[in-house]
Amino acid sequence: MTILVTGANGQLGNEMQIVAKQSSYKYIFTDVCEGYEKLDITDLEAIRKTVKENDVKCIVNCAAWTNVDAAETAGEIVETLNATAPENLAKAMKEVNGLLVHVSTDYVFGGDPYNTPCKEDQKGTPTGVYGATKLLGEQKIIASGCKYMILRTAWLYSEFGKNFVKTMLNLTATKPQLKVVFDQTGTPTYAYDLATAIVAALYNPVQGIYHYSNEGVCSWYDFTKMIAEYAGNTDCDIQPCHSDEFPSPVKRPAYSVLDKTKVKGTFGITIPYWTESLKKCICNLKNQ
Ligand SMILES: NC(=O)c1ccc[n+]([C@@H]2O[C@H](COP(=O)([O-])OP(=O)(O)OC[C@H]3O[C@@H](n4cnc5c(N)ncnc54)[C@H](OP(=O)(O)O)[C@@H]3O)[C@@H](O)[C@H]2O)c1
Repeated sequence: MTILVTGANGQLGNEMQIVAKQSSYKYIFTDVCEGYEKLDITDLEAIRKTVKENDVKCIVNCAAWTNVDAAETAGEIVETLNATAPENLAKAMKEVNGLLVHVSTDYVFGGDPYNTPCKEDQKGTPTGVYGATKLLGEQKIIASGCKYMILRTAWLYSEFGKNFVKTMLNLTATKPQLKVVFDQTGTPTYAYDLATAIVAALYNPVQGIYHYSNEGVCSWYDFTKMIAEYAGNTDCDIQPCHSDEFPSPVKRPAYSVLDKTKVKGTFGITIPYWTESLKKCICNLKNQ
């Protein structure tokens, strides 16, 4: 089977490239930038052409608009990338009876306060443009009638691109003091682990929506403390603070933990605890 990966130059796309080396399937890695086979997922005809020329029977969509705050003012490009483009991919897969694996987010929730881990069938209540357009993308994929697996993830980080881990590695190494919010709780996800789960699921795909993050729960403050500890950045005084000290255009949920019972049961996968994966990522970054 030939599998097309979109957004290959992003965090998850780069980890897909690493993990796919161990797979027996053929992978084609695409993005809008140089260095990859060019594929703009807003262009339906270009998708159809690539699918036809390479006899693609599965697409893993790692491309998206991912800047949550900037989404509030960026205009229609956000919906185009997060909803219309996944619909394009779904149409192209429907036409060849193929499978679309799409990645979504815990930010499809958040409008209704809750304090238990979210299950897949919980009603979407996004609080901002990013979450609303990602939810619309999911709905368009399902409505297309194509075969799909949608994996919602959260707090994604990796060795690649910009992310919270890399920002905090830098800040805890250079600042004497740092305040980090402790009133938002969730679970970090190492993109390598998510890519591993996706590649495993492709051997026995079962349609549906799934939740995937690492195991465990922490606040951004706890996350930062562990980043500093693993990096050996001991000189920075890290203090907990409330979210209202860092006003943001989008209200983040106080508790945003994904229930992973379904993904583990369906695909028989084991998910690493968040600190184990964080340690691996920081070790890889230090060895770069
Ligand atoms: N990051 C998080 O914390 C987080 C949390 C939950 C869920 N997710 C979801 O996880 C998935 C992967 O996220 P990520 O952090 O790996 O994303 P990312 O690093 O932002 O990568 C996205 C990639 O898509 C590319 N792209 C942009 N427009 C495109 C287009 N029209 N056609 C093809 N490619 C295009 C980007 O290129 P440019 O860089 O050149 O624009 C980039 O290489 C996304 O669906 C995201 O919504 C992310």
